[in-house]
Amino acid sequence: VSPAPGTLVIFGASGDLARRKLYPALYHLFRRGLLHEESRIVGCARTAYSDDGFRDHIRPELTGGTDAELNEFLRRIHYHGLDYNRAENYHALGQRLDELEKGSELPANRTIYLAMPAALYPAIIEQLYATGQLTEPEDGSSWRHVVLEKPFGRDTASAEELDIQLHRYLKEDQIYRIDHYLGKDTVQNIMMLRFANLIFEPVWNSHYIDHIQLTVAETLGVEHRAGYYDQSGLLRDMFQNHMLEMLAMAAMEMPSSFSADAVRDEKVKLIQSIRPFDLKHLHDSVVRAQYQGYLDEPGVKPDSTTETYVAAKLMIDNWRWSGVPFYLRSGKKLAKRKSEIAIVFKTIPHSIFAPIKASDMQPDTLVLKVQPDEGMELTIQAKQPGPKLCMGGLSLNFRYSELPGGESFEAYERLLLDAMLGDQTLFIRSDVIAESWKLFTPVLENWQHDCPLVTYAPGSDGPTEANRMLFLDNREWREL
Ligand code: BG6
Repeated sequence: VSPAPGTLVIFGASGDLARRKLYPALYHLFRRGLLHEESRIVGCARTAYSDDGFRDHIRPELTGGTDAELNEFLRRIHYHGLDYNRAENYHALGQRLDELEKGSELPANRTIYLAMPAALYPAIIEQLYATGQLTEPEDGSSWRHVVLEKPFGRDTASAEELDIQLHRYLKEDQIYRIDHYLGKDTVQNIMMLRFANLIFEPVWNSHYIDHIQLTVAETLGVEHRAGYYDQSGLLRDMFQNHMLEMLAMAAMEMPSSFSADAVRDEKVKLIQSIRPFDLKHLHDSVVRAQYQGYLDEPGVKPDSTTETYVAAKLMIDNWRWSGVPFYLRSGKKLAKRKSEIAIVFKTIPHSIFAPIKASDMQPDTLVLKVQPDEGMELTIQAKQPGPKLCMGGLSLNFRYSELPGGESFEAYERLLLDAMLGDQTLFIRSDVIAESWKLFTPVLENWQHDCPLVTYAPGSDGPTEANRMLFLDNREWREL
């Protein structure tokens, strides 16, 4: 990977995301030699800071490295205070950027990261456009990219509206929509595992796979984000984006190449193939729950019916997955922090190891462990030591932490680097967003008049109703 040149402008620079995630990620990139020596990082926000004052503000978050490294990194950090609504402030920003870029031989690429509530996107993008800062030179000598954080709408209509507003000022190849799950090494590895090996793809279908379980369990509750979360709920916060992206990676067809559009074309096709929820029998395929004590969290409405847990059963109507259920669950305040995709294979058709019957054997299972303890685990049947015929599960376990080659990339590091290098592969395209809302909006609308909500104890595995959903299919969730 080559070091990223150009200018990164971070709007919302004094906020939580920028301070806790973006600047530390940039510092790591710098320490790995992946920030070009002529790159600059300009923070923008409403608060007034001098360059040095802002450097002091972020310094405590930048850990590791020598004093010399830290100072060298901070030298590239600049700050520009601005009121997001005032055109003259944007003109001044443009002049400041021109000034900083003066004398550099490199293309004046600019990546503008909006680390702020989505409600502010349209106004800021309009101002940037009006002051000429999104216009790319016609000779193609440099580009202007805008990086956006979710949420991308809260249903089909609002997502479409946002899309129209963005496309008024930006071309799709200038828009980098972040789903930080795509920056995780283990999520990217799904594609390597499937498409860089010969042994998995032949069995990656309904002939061999019984079902797939996708879990994203968190131990944390809503924390200090009730203002956003109580309006959003788990389906919007996790399913519409992270869960569906992971599902698409695990289930899509092989792209024609590893180019951004080839990969994203396959994801859209996969999401389009997911069977719409049967709204008449929604309770059979979706469980919606809230952790006990949620209503006492600061900032949560006392009578809130927002869900903090969802379990759902999805079917994919295509040749590869016909008849294979995908069980998805995600929740806050659960027993463990764990994200994984478990591919549960069918049991063998006949056992020659009498008296052990085929149905007595555990199915082979391949678990892609997204976090923590990143890696892969394949559980197969094997002979247990001893003279008798005894068989049991044997786990082949691979851990990323045991790989030589040092610290893995944190999600934001990978994504910031890709945005600055102009690689859209790990960013979400507009049609993926539209398709994912098409799947979930009917469910959200249904909940407006029929709002099932069960509760679960904090620190538990989730509500018993979720177990029932699998029990009816003669299956069970993997242990958290
Ligand atoms: C965010 C959600 O996108 O992802 C949070 O808004 C959630 O509610 C977080 O906690 C989980 O991310 P990670 O990387 O900690 O699994």
